[in-house]
Amino acid sequence: MSAHKTTKNHLISQLFWQTEIGADEAISAYPSVQDEMTSLKQYMALLKTPAQPDLSQPKISSEPVSVIQQNTGSGASILEENSGVSDTMKRASLESLTTLNELKIALEKFEGCSLKNTASQLVFGDGNPDAKIMMIGEAPGKDEDRMGIPFVGQAGQLLDKMLKSIGLDRQQIYITNFIPWRPPGNRTPSSEEISQLRPFMLKHIQLKKPDIIVALGGVSAKALLDTDLGILKLRGRFQEKQFGLEQPIRILPTLHPAYLLRAPAQKKLAFQDLVLLKRAITNGMVT
Ligand code: URA
Repeated sequence: MSAHKTTKNHLISQLFWQTEIGADEAISAYPSVQDEMTSLKQYMALLKTPAQPDLSQPKISSEPVSVIQQNTGSGASILEENSGVSDTMKRASLESLTTLNELKIALEKFEGCSLKNTASQLVFGDGNPDAKIMMIGEAPGKDEDRMGIPFVGQAGQLLDKMLKSIGLDRQQIYITNFIPWRPPGNRTPSSEEISQLRPFMLKHIQLKKPDIIVALGGVSAKALLDTDLGILKLRGRFQEKQFGLEQPIRILPTLHPAYLLRAPAQKKLAFQDLVLLKRAITNGMVT
């Protein structure tokens, strides 16, 4: 596809997204994301940037994305901090796993979470396994449970549009859920279920070694950041978290697309988060 056509497609996606978030009339000289992007001109310049980072840029931007650093202790201590984790770790022998496929098989064999009994199947991951942006949702819904693929229902379709508005698609990201089995009736996973599956999520992250994790929604953000703060307080900035890898990983919490379907007025907040993600890519934070 020519650069001209790509830019045109980006602009069309962006216009589509603007109408999705309710920006369908011009009422001021600048867009409402003025604090993130000082002018429409800058935003358009950003959209023209290819999704792949310019490797000539420094790894850390000279205009850093705001990052809050936390839990930079060893990965082992984080695993042990969480109740029930060391037991589960022993049962599943996660430490010896070296590939995503082995992790998937370990989950299929895992009997320590009753959600497995009510779900149709395990929903493991989708997108590009080599991508350095890892998106982590809450748990599969009805469509995902039927298809065995995360984010294929209405929320997933909205997510695809959101990604497209910043020039990304599933080939440039890897997507999974904190909980790999559908909770009955789509209820919120319990804290016990989150504890049972936490070691698998941590291993998933360790195997993937992403540069950036986008936590989709409050359940995922709170579980990944070990916090009780709500998503509206967590979103809109990167936080660093240690997962037992060489470097802490940047986590960007944002609103869940299913929530945006119910509360479309909040799409503008998700858009601001996407701009942060795009800026991080542009600044070379994704290798
Ligand atoms: N919501 C999620 O959190 N994950 C999915 O896969 C689908 C909907």
